[in-house]
Amino acid sequence: MSRLTLESFLKERKDQLETKLPEYVVALDAPSILKESMLYSLQAGGKRLRPMLLFATVEGFGGDYQQSIPVASAIEMIHTYSLIHDDLPAMDNDDFRRGKLTNHKVFGDATAILAGDALLTYAFEVIVTMNNSEVEPSQKLRLIAELAKASGPEGMVGGQVADMEGENKSLTLPELEFIHHHKTGDLLSFAIIAGAILTKANDNDVESLRAFARYLGLAFQIKDDILDIEGSQETLGKPVGSDITNEKSTYPKLLGLEGAKRKLDDHILTAKEYLYKVKMKHEKLEMLADYIMYRDR
Ligand code: IPE
Ligand code: IPE
Ligand code: MG
Ligand code: MG
Ligand code: MG
Repeated sequence: MSRLTLESFLKERKDQLETKLPEYVVALDAPSILKESMLYSLQAGGKRLRPMLLFATVEGFGGDYQQSIPVASAIEMIHTYSLIHDDLPAMDNDDFRRGKLTNHKVFGDATAILAGDALLTYAFEVIVTMNNSEVEPSQKLRLIAELAKASGPEGMVGGQVADMEGENKSLTLPELEFIHHHKTGDLLSFAIIAGAILTKANDNDVESLRAFARYLGLAFQIKDDILDIEGSQETLGKPVGSDITNEKSTYPKLLGLEGAKRKLDDHILTAKEYLYKVKMKHEKLEMLADYIMYRDR
């Protein structure tokens, strides 16, 4: 697919998502400072990659992506909560995110923590109450179970703890992979699996997609680590050098910058091999896999 097609794919779907996403928060009967803080980070931009992976999966199986906007919104809420907490002084202590001051810099630590909590819990409510007659209760239950697993102690939260424990240490490759899989890969994988659940894909296809997503998630975090060294704050919208300051375990630290780039290439290739096994139209997911590898933000 040409670059122009990638851009038009992203633009139309991002516009749709970004119209709907704030409406969920605006509709809440909750303290206005809480809503303001939630909206501040939700509306700060971001690539919306996880929603795009969900849409590409739904479309690959012949579905209409618009039907999956509530699930895409829930994922983006959980992802945004994870970033608000990740930037707190007690964690990575970063001042900029998505080109703006971090949530705690504007609203204070307490409100930032609570805005994160609110985004996390509200995400599940959004899935439960989604008003789409095509989605059966059993599908909602599967979505909730998968999302809870991906974002909880055996998923993102567990990965974040392992990431903190890995500071000031030299880890082995399997230890580093554990961190990357869980802190980043699991939620990214959920986006793809959710697309398969919504379109009732068969078990074989779901398993191949899981393997695709696993390599893609690893590749995504390797690229994030590379950009923390080679990227620019202006383009990324977040500080570079945060990993070195916090003495994080990263792929470039373990394998060197060139080694990390080779791993990134390898993982994208392996991911695509799994993708081709799935009986669906691969084009959009393939395009997003390339985007993950070549992105500069
Ligand atoms: C950054 O995620 C945090 C990681 C999990 C590595 P993204 O790079 O997807 O951040 P946004 O959503 O575009 O801001
Ligand atoms: C964050 O990883 C992962 C989650 C927020 C779950 P990083 O700490 O590397 O993300 P950035 O670089 O701050 O976006
Ligand atoms: Mg972090
Ligand atoms: Mg961070
Ligand atoms: Mg990072």
